[in-house]
Amino acid sequence: MTKPITLAILISGNGSNLQAIIEAIETGQLNAEIKAVVSNNPEAYGLVRATRHNLHTWVINDQDYNSRKHYDEVLRHYLETIDPDYIVLAGFMRILSPGFIDAFEHRILNIHPSLLPAYKGLNTYQRALDNAETQHGVSIHLVTAELDAGPIILQASYAVEAGDRVEDLQRRGIQLEHQMFPQVLSWLSDKRLTIKEGQVFYDQALLEQPIQFDH
Ligand code: GRF
Repeated sequence: MTKPITLAILISGNGSNLQAIIEAIETGQLNAEIKAVVSNNPEAYGLVRATRHNLHTWVINDQDYNSRKHYDEVLRHYLETIDPDYIVLAGFMRILSPGFIDAFEHRILNIHPSLLPAYKGLNTYQRALDNAETQHGVSIHLVTAELDAGPIILQASYAVEAGDRVEDLQRRGIQLEHQMFPQVLSWLSDKRLTIKEGQVFYDQALLEQPIQFDH
């Protein structure tokens, strides 16, 4: 087997995407090694999940820092010592400063619960319902300095049905998320997906449109 890709996974809460990645590794679907799970929130349930699987965890509590710059420097220093191939934002609810993003250029991936570029930022389900959208979805993208705006790698869309509430969209979306991060990471691991100078290539071809997740 080829060398696994190495990951640092950043979380803030439940960590169900983290769990899906752990399970994909444990069942041999994903050739990766999680070097650390980092949380800005000491109460994040994802830390419990990580510990159950004997993963190294690290809390950098944002309540202990009064500037984003200082917080990001500490996070950056820690991640530089680990030096993972990829930094996976799996529900990490902090905006990262441009200096941090530059330090790990083209190695940071995020999952976002909308069909980007629509609905950047927070409360995407509610906003989609307020606008009577008929489709909503999930995107995995490369992180660049502009919020939720880096090249989109994989997207999944699903129908919004009459009478849907936030919880309905969330349930539909999260089920897809759990399949999508393992998929993208395994393409990276297989070198089916490569990133060169901020551009994403799939099967050697420049990705001009996001890949549509088949479900
Ligand atoms: C997901 O919905 C993800 O799209 C968003 O934060 C949520 C994290 O969920 N960025 P979990 O902590 O992985 O369960």
